Amino acid sequence: MTETETKTNQALGYWDSKAQFFASGERRQKTRRMSDLYESGCWRYIEPLLPPMESGTILEAGCGTGRWVYRLAPMGYDLELMDFSGEMIRHAEAQVNQQGLGERVSAYHVLDICNMNTLGDNAFDLVLALGMPLSLCSDPGQAVSEMFRITKPGGHVVCDTNNRFRRALDLARKNDMTRFFDVLNNGKTVGESGLHQSCFSPEELDTLFREQGFKPCKTAAITPFFEHPPAKEQVELLDDDEMFSRIDKAFQNVAEEPWVLGLTSRLLMVAQKPETGKH
Ligand SMILES: C[S@@+](CC[C@H](N)C(=O)[O-])C[C@H]1O[C@@H](n2cnc3c(N)ncnc32)[C@H](O)[C@@H]1O
Repeated sequence: MTETETKTNQALGYWDSKAQFFASGERRQKTRRMSDLYESGCWRYIEPLLPPMESGTILEAGCGTGRWVYRLAPMGYDLELMDFSGEMIRHAEAQVNQQGLGERVSAYHVLDICNMNTLGDNAFDLVLALGMPLSLCSDPGQAVSEMFRITKPGGHVVCDTNNRFRRALDLARKNDMTRFFDVLNNGKTVGESGLHQSCFSPEELDTLFREQGFKPCKTAAITPFFEHPPAKEQVELLDDDEMFSRIDKAFQNVAEEPWVLGLTSRLLMVAQKPETGKH
C-alpha cells in the first residue's frame, strides 16, 4: 500500500467512526450557534449562484451527513450528495428520508473527491465542497481538477479550506514547533484528529484553482477572528441574539478585506468554470 493509500484509509476510518456523532445532532449541540454563524457566512456566497430551480443540479461534496441539503431541498432544489465515507452517506440518506426530502435527492455517491469517476463531465451547475474536504483529501490539486471536470461550463464551485498562516500562528501560540514548521514550510499539518491536512494562503488557493482552469471569483474569510474549532467562550457568546447579529454583520462587513483574509482560520473560495473550458 502506498503512503497516500494508508493516509486515505486512516482518514476513512476516522470519518466512518464520526458519522453517528454527526447524525445524532450532538455535533450541532456542541457548536450551538457557531454553526449558524458559519452557515450565514457561507450562504451569502452560495445564494447568488443558485441555478434555476427547475433545471439546475447541485452537488454537495464531502457532505458528511448533509448540511446544505437541509436548506436547499426544502426550497425546491435538486441535489446529489457525495462523501468518501460510506457511513456518512448512509446516515445522510436516512436523515434526508426522515425529513421527507427524499424526492429532492436524486443520487448518493460514495466517492473520493480526488477521483469522482462515476460522475459525468459537465454535470453540475453548482458544486459545494464545504466543511473542508479540500484540506482533508490526499491531493487537493487532483480534487480541484475533478471539480473542474464535473462542473458545467459557466457553473460554480464554493469550497472552504484551512488558512496556512493562521494555522501557523495558532501552533506557534501553543509552542507546537514541529507542526508549526511543517505548516509554515510545506502547508501541511496533522490536526488534533490525527488527520493530515493541507493549508493554503489566499494566494495559494487562488493559484490552485487557476491552475486547473477555474476563474476565481471571490475569496472570503468565514468566521474570522474566532478559533477553529471554536472556543467554548466564543460559542457561548453567540447564544445572545443581539450579540450574534452584531458579530454576524461585523464579520460579513470585513470578509473580503485582504488583511482579514490573512488572519481567518477558514478561507472560502468561489470559482467559476469558464464557458469555454480552460482559459
Ligand atoms: C468536517 S466534515 C464536513 C461535513 C459537511 N460538509 C458539513 O459542512 O457539515 C468533512 C467531511 O469531508 C469528508 N471527506 C474527507 N476527505 C474526503 C475525501 N477525500 N473525499 C470525499 N469526502 C471527504 C468527510 O468524510 C467528512 O464527511
